[in-house]
Amino acid sequence: MTITFITGANKGLGRETARRLVELGHTVLLGARDPERGAQAAATLGARFVPIDVTDDASVSAAAANVAEHEGSIDVLINNAGIHGPAGDPTALTGADALGVLDVNLAGVVRTTTAFLPLLRRSSDPVIVNVSSGTGSLAHTHDPSRPESRVIAPLYTASKAALTMLTTQYAKALPDIRVNAADPGYTATDLNGHSGPQTVTEGTDAIVGLATEKPGAGSGRFVDRTGEIAWS
Ligand SMILES: NC(=O)c1ccc[n+]([C@@H]2O[C@H](COP(=O)([O-])OP(=O)(O)OC[C@H]3O[C@@H](n4cnc5c(N)ncnc54)[C@H](OP(=O)(O)O)[C@@H]3O)[C@@H](O)[C@H]2O)c1
Repeated sequence: MTITFITGANKGLGRETARRLVELGHTVLLGARDPERGAQAAATLGARFVPIDVTDDASVSAAAANVAEHEGSIDVLINNAGIHGPAGDPTALTGADALGVLDVNLAGVVRTTTAFLPLLRRSSDPVIVNVSSGTGSLAHTHDPSRPESRVIAPLYTASKAALTMLTTQYAKALPDIRVNAADPGYTATDLNGHSGPQTVTEGTDAIVGLATEKPGAGSGRFVDRTGEIAWS
């Protein structure tokens, strides 16, 4: 049985990923920072709720300890939790705004990955999926035919560019683990006021694909629901 831990899984793409992976037979550990909403989502989907706020070292350590005690290992870590951060006038952004977005979208992934590595290393086929974004791809944001080229969200897009590089660096540094980044594509969720054209099922195709690949599928890739994509 594949054991999969997902951060930010009480709603949106994380929740749909949890739903689909339960359906595919995974034991899903549904990470969420709000105890009520996390427990409710887990009960509805047939997953086990694990409290985790990815900005809080103690919370992340407690989540890893919780999983160590109950399951003893995981096979798949999906770093999905993310925030958009402040919208509006880019000339009014502050250093605190930048640190706030990076704390969830980048440092949160580092905290969670470090804490869960010992549990992943007990798997015969350990996998990390980082939920990044095509809005952090230089190739996409410079291609006028792509919707990503019209996005102006300096902190969010920069955090996702950093997350994709973090993914390729982890892929090199951790050759025993398959580490890849997923671009869900523009999907209707709370993150964007439900403006995206894709459903959450479409938006989770790349995440579910990477979480269910066979050994040897390759590490350090950036994929969307159509396949491998360029980010530089
Ligand atoms: N929707 C898109 O078009 C799109 C496109 C590309 C990439 N993505 C990425 O997909 C991922 C999921 O986003 P979504 O669209 O599903 O947005 P969403 O519906 O807003 O869900 C975001 C999730 O992250 C959680 N979260 C935020 N801060 C957290 C923290 N400090 N600790 C733990 N969990 C935290 C939220 O929990 P709360 O409910 O407690 O706030 C929520 O469960 C994000 O990384 C996002 O950047 C989305």
